[in-house]
Amino acid sequence: MTTLAIFTDDPGWHGARLRAAFAERGCESRFVTLSECSIRLGTGEAEVSVPGFGAPPAAAFVRGVAGGTLEEVVFRLNVLHALKAAGTRVYNDGRAIERSVDKGLTSFLLAGAGIPTPPTRVTANPEVAAAFLEEELRGGHTVVSKPLFGSQGKDVMRIDRLARLPDAQAANGVWYLQRFVASAGREPEDWRLFVVGGRAVAAVRRSGGWPTNVACGARCHAAVPAVEAVDLARRATRVLDMDYAGVDLLRDRAGAWWLIEVNSIPAWRGLEEATGVDVARLLAADLMGRIRPRQRPQEVV
Ligand SMILES: Nc1ncnc2c1ncn2[C@@H]1O[C@H](COP(=O)(O)OP(=O)(O)OP(=O)(O)O)[C@@H](O)[C@H]1O
Ligand SMILES: [Mg+2]
Repeated sequence: MTTLAIFTDDPGWHGARLRAAFAERGCESRFVTLSECSIRLGTGEAEVSVPGFGAPPAAAFVRGVAGGTLEEVVFRLNVLHALKAAGTRVYNDGRAIERSVDKGLTSFLLAGAGIPTPPTRVTANPEVAAAFLEEELRGGHTVVSKPLFGSQGKDVMRIDRLARLPDAQAANGVWYLQRFVASAGREPEDWRLFVVGGRAVAAVRRSGGWPTNVACGARCHAAVPAVEAVDLARRATRVLDMDYAGVDLLRDRAGAWWLIEVNSIPAWRGLEEATGVDVARLLAADLMGRIRPRQRPQEVV
């Protein structure tokens, strides 16, 4: 029987759903903490030790990469890189996670690929940050400030005057400022499309306060996305080379779509409750379809 690793420090509801979905396909899975893995070098080929596995697993589902010091986070990602080099099918792999964990890099790659991205400034210079904000305010806009490594709406702020610009400490030394896009509906809303294996398998509108993250109290409503939104979500997932992704979009009052975020380790509980789509089952099927006979170690950089 194939045994897969599910990397997480906190299996919870998502871990249980995944494990059940893999079991349904005749696959056992074990929860593993990335920090408990180690990389062994200098004894022939590089090896990765994964607790509970004699050899690297055929596949690993990355459900969480815990925060920590820069060294700890880089080490955890390096374990993913080393596993991929050893032939494990890492879902989403370390590079995909790196591309999306940093909002500045995500927006840079998406905008560069022609995906509509609201006017954004990423800078470590407070004067450049202030100048962008002033220019936007002069143009009749407000601005959203987001932590580069944030998620779930944490510390996302709307700024409507110069005095509200976060100081260097609050911005962790780097400002990510983006034009506020007023949504088309009566209240602020955004769209989350869940893409698996290049297909948008479920979509919700999220509303109820601002920011419209479930973690901030927003509610998910099942909805049929516009063809254009589906197309953007699929393209963004492809540009960032992700096996699956949670893609956040906004639709402005003129009906134009803007892509604001792609998440490589998205939660799906709210989305599943609203849509009834069995996300874990789709993820398990997609991952199982991608496990190939063990290949020779490959270049990953
Ligand atoms: N440019 C914008 N205009 C209007 N609202 C925005 C804008 N950017 C973000 N928001 C609001 O803030 C919320 C959070 O933003 P975003 O999705 O970029 O970060 P996050 O949710 O914290 O990160 P992640 O999606 O990785 O968990 C969005 O769902 C939306 O409600
Ligand atoms: Mg988001």
